[in-house]
Amino acid sequence: MTGGRRGEGRATEARPAEARWEERVQRAAHPVAYPAVRALRSRPVVRIPRVGLVVNDAAIAREVLLDVGRFSKVGPGAPSDLWTPILGPSVLLNMEGAEHAALRRALGPIFSPRAVRELVEGRGRERAGRDPDATSPLAAMVARLDAGETVDLARVVAAQAGSVICGLVGLPPTDAAVRTSIAAAQVVTGMVRLHRRRLTTSQVAYARRVLGELTAPARDAYRAGDESTVPGRMRGLGLSEREAMGAVGAFVLTGTETVQSFVPRLLAIAYDTGWTGRLLGVEEAGSRSEVSGDDLRRRVVEEALRVTVPTPAMLRSVRADAVVGGERVSAGDRVVIATVNCCRAAGAFDPDRPVDPDVRHLWFGAGPHFCLGMPLAMAQVEAVLDALTPLAATGRRVVVGRRRPARGVLVPGYRGLELTLDGGHGRGRAVEHGQGRIVGL
Ligand code: HEM
Repeated sequence: MTGGRRGEGRATEARPAEARWEERVQRAAHPVAYPAVRALRSRPVVRIPRVGLVVNDAAIAREVLLDVGRFSKVGPGAPSDLWTPILGPSVLLNMEGAEHAALRRALGPIFSPRAVRELVEGRGRERAGRDPDATSPLAAMVARLDAGETVDLARVVAAQAGSVICGLVGLPPTDAAVRTSIAAAQVVTGMVRLHRRRLTTSQVAYARRVLGELTAPARDAYRAGDESTVPGRMRGLGLSEREAMGAVGAFVLTGTETVQSFVPRLLAIAYDTGWTGRLLGVEEAGSRSEVSGDDLRRRVVEEALRVTVPTPAMLRSVRADAVVGGERVSAGDRVVIATVNCCRAAGAFDPDRPVDPDVRHLWFGAGPHFCLGMPLAMAQVEAVLDALTPLAATGRRVVVGRRRPARGVLVPGYRGLELTLDGGHGRGRAVEHGQGRIVGL
């Protein structure tokens, strides 16, 4: 890495602050599974009884993900075992082949750049019943930071992600609706454990009830066909009610905690490695980078995705006998792609390092199941960075204070992460530097 101000987080220990905090975050979520998975990382593939063939190498992982003839998301040990009982049989992440491709194509417009921007900015909220003057979580965060207060970024991002879910299910994002939707997503993903292939009957019943309550307004919006709502738009795009409700459920499950996990970790890593200023478009004294201009923010974000890997593993069921990294697998076996090992093999966080093509975007998957929600995830990350940028432009530093890793969650992350502004030429200046860009977020 080149010229980062590591004094933001001291690098005097053998292991830099970034790596130590990431380790704490991962272990708080998975105290047994995480060290066990990391212990396998020196071998490209390892067979573990009752778990499956674990893949730790990015090139081999990519081969598996692209070989849809032999490896499937449907079958014994695959995601279908976990999600089909809750969401039904046709929700993308448990489909294959022509049906899967057709549903993805139909959903494409929901994730167009304009559609995701509107979803993140909450446009259409007025029609959906929200007070248009209500302060958005990001605008409130900026005002408080600008006034010299401390904010909990983990809470802010949870509220932001919650209002995006409300947009997806067609609910006005009132505080109560946001809280309920976040809680519902967490209840369901929190039941999943890496070592468990299926949920129990009572877990399935509970998860169906919780998701059913959350998606009831989506059903109403679909039936009303109001195209200012996502379910109404799905109807306009030709999706059946069953497909639309399955997609809404899949978005809630896959798209909430991943973003909630990533954004605070991004800011924490940037702070620990001295990259915050450059992430927010400010060149700090003593910092220098091989990358510049518009590319810089993207590279910092992508590098943080590479080291955090918000979805740490991907599962496939073997359809036909095959050889993976020199090991034979047979129909019915399970392959566990340890994405966290594949992506982190390149080393510690360093946006200046050239990206290995095998690793690039592997944190979003590869092949036909590549993350459909990537544009929405990136729009949410951008919204937070756009909100913080005018504050950084006033010459003040964004400082990470106390942090608390979340325990017992499926997607590792911070339960709390405090941000404040430090130094510069005073409070109340953000508006002059373009805070207007985030009004309405
Ligand atoms: C930083 C945030 C995110 C990360 C790291 C992430 C990661 C991933 C990964 C690795 C996969 C592929 C899994 C596999 O092949 O087994 C995936 C699939 C998927 N993601 Fe994301 N995701 C993120 C955010 C989102 C968001 C915001 C949404 C939408 C609301 C979303 C919706 C989906 C869907 C629907 C699929 C299934 C696609 C298919 O099977 O065709 N994701 N995601």
